[in-house]
Formats: sequence, structure tokens, C-alpha cells
Amino acid sequence: MITIALSKGRIFTETMPILKAAGIECSENPESSRKLVFNTNKENIQIIIVRASDVPTYVECGGADIGIAGKDVLDEYMGVGIYYPLDLNIGKCKMMVACKKDFNYLDAMKNKKRLKVATKYTNAASEFFAKKGIHIDLIKLYGSMELAPIVGLADIIVDLVSSGKTLAANNLIPVEEVSSITSRLIVNKASLKLNNKLLKPMIKKFSQSVS
Ligand code: PRP
Repeated sequence: MITIALSKGRIFTETMPILKAAGIECSENPESSRKLVFNTNKENIQIIIVRASDVPTYVECGGADIGIAGKDVLDEYMGVGIYYPLDLNIGKCKMMVACKKDFNYLDAMKNKKRLKVATKYTNAASEFFAKKGIHIDLIKLYGSMELAPIVGLADIIVDLVSSGKTLAANNLIPVEEVSSITSRLIVNKASLKLNNKLLKPMIKKFSQSVS
């Protein structure tokens, strides 16, 4: 049995056509169900639904054989038992620095001011500002980062920006790109060896459907 770990939300709708192109169809729509385990049209393939940030944990620890996760999540996870064979080129967005309109980010960078940074992506933010020689105080949040500058919890945030609507709705502006984000196929290294006959053709089909 091959188990595929997916998460609902941002990436999910773009994932289904890729699975379909590989001949895999879910027995029901996970987006309209509270179930966490789903059969597929293939008797030896099942899909599990986990939180986006938990996908690499399930794959590395063998709870799933393969999974799909954003580069944002994978960069924070930094696992060693995972093989990253394919950029699926879906879930495209940017990781950005953003702040209130009246915050002078350029001046802060130029004068190497110490900054309070609220983010879910503490590794990415640390690395980004360390390279610039900027000292930061990290405030780890798990969501709704946009609130932090509004209530004075932080000077700036590091968050994903797709349409830009969430920033705009909260009177924030993007000021610098940290990285480009897409979603990747990830595979448990041991499973790739053990289930090579099933996984290798599946990965090949996924790669053929990537634009
Ligand atoms: C992300 C991100 C922003 C929003 C940006 O949140 O954290 O809040 O999307 O999208 P936009 O630029 O199209 O408005 P997501 O919905 O992935 O969930 P999260 O709050 O759990 O991070």
C-alpha cells in the first residue's frame, strides 16, 4: 500500500489534476469531508489529509510514502530522511517582507536597525536577515501574521503573498522578496527503495504532467 500525504487549502485544488494525470482519483472529495483517510481508484494507493506543516513529518517518519508540500514548509522542516525528486510548479507564491505603510524599511536596512520580526517561517527569516547583517528579534506566530505590525507586536512580518489581498486588506505593503515558493513532491527515502516498482513510475507520471 502506498500512502500519499496531502493538505487541504492553498495547494489542494492544484494537486488533484496532477494525481488524475497519474491515473489516481480519490474516492470522494476530501474538501467536503471530515475524514482523514481516503481510498482511491487504485486499490494499493490511499490518500491521507494532514496539516500542511505536518506533511514532511508524515513522510520522513513513514506515516506516508510520498507527499506534496510547499518550499516554505520544507525549508522550515529541514528533514534528512526525505528525497525531493520534483518541483511540481504549483502553489506558486512569494515569501515577502511586509510592513505598515509608514514604516521606513529602506532606512531600517540602510542603518542596520534591530527589528522585531513576526513570522511562522523563523528559519527563512533568520537566514535572510543574517545575510544582510541585520539583527532581528523573532516572534514566532502560527497564523494571521498581518496582525502583528498593526497591534505593535512587530516592526515587520515575513509571510507568503499570493494575490496580495490579505496585505492590502490590512493596510500593509510588501517591501522585499525573501524567496519564490512552489510545491514539491517529497518521498520517504526508505520507501523509495522498498516500493521502487510502484513509486518510480508514479513519480515519472507526475513529472510528465508538470508544466
Ligand atoms: C497565506 C498567508 C497570507 C495569505 C496571503 O495564508 O499567510 O495570510 O495566504 O494570500 P493572498 O496574498 O492571496 O491574500 P494561508 O491561507 O496559506 O493560511 P495561514 O494563515 O494558515 O498561513
